[in-house]
Amino acid sequence: MIVVNSVVDFDAAAADSLMQQLRQGGVIGLATGRTTGAMHRLVADAFTKGPFDISNVTFFALDEVTGIEDTNPWACRAKLKHEVLDALGVDDDHFLSFPTYPEKCDDACTALPEALQARGGIDLLYLGLGENGHLGFNQPGTPFDSKSWISTMDEGLENRIREDCGLDSSVKLGGITLGLSELMAAKRIILLVKGESKREILKQVLEGPVTEDVPASILQRHPDCTLIADSAAMGE
Ligand code: GLP
Repeated sequence: MIVVNSVVDFDAAAADSLMQQLRQGGVIGLATGRTTGAMHRLVADAFTKGPFDISNVTFFALDEVTGIEDTNPWACRAKLKHEVLDALGVDDDHFLSFPTYPEKCDDACTALPEALQARGGIDLLYLGLGENGHLGFNQPGTPFDSKSWISTMDEGLENRIREDCGLDSSVKLGGITLGLSELMAAKRIILLVKGESKREILKQVLEGPVTEDVPASILQRHPDCTLIADSAAMGE
């Protein structure tokens, strides 16, 4: 566990960890959201100032919003490109993601996990934590042995997207995500948690029982998982 006192230190610690992995290469999973935006921008800045060869890195988005174009700023693909990957000069061969309209593809749930497997599996996976304990779009109640699937998003995120994009209720939104068993197959995981709104759920993740009611509690069983948290999330 790495616990830091401020948001500034949190973003710096998270960005440092990613810069280190970029130098080593491998398959890196990135998470979108309020937690990771600043760290991504720090990495983009650092890389722009001192670029190096990252041709041996494959990036992927562990989940994706469904029901919007993949160029919509709320799409995980678009967000990651905008926050960091465009600045790193990453092309489509080195950035894998789920489709935002999975119903239009036969292999929506299988193409990404198969491609990750073909590249040797996930070396480092960044995960954010939902206020309800979700990982990716694996909401409470998702079986621990789940594989990639089309799920739902939590109400908070859905409201933020609808409001920001002016979408009415006729537009159906959801989420496609790597399943919990595929996330757990990552060789190394970094769980990123910041802010007081995550304090209660983080306590359950760390100290509560391992239960499908709290998907992130499964991380207690991962052999190489680091938590980076700020003191607001960590509490006492
Ligand atoms: C979202 C995403 C996750 C993200 C998590 C935390 O719903 N599906 O991939 O990591 O929830 O988001 P935030 O950092 O905005 O709290």
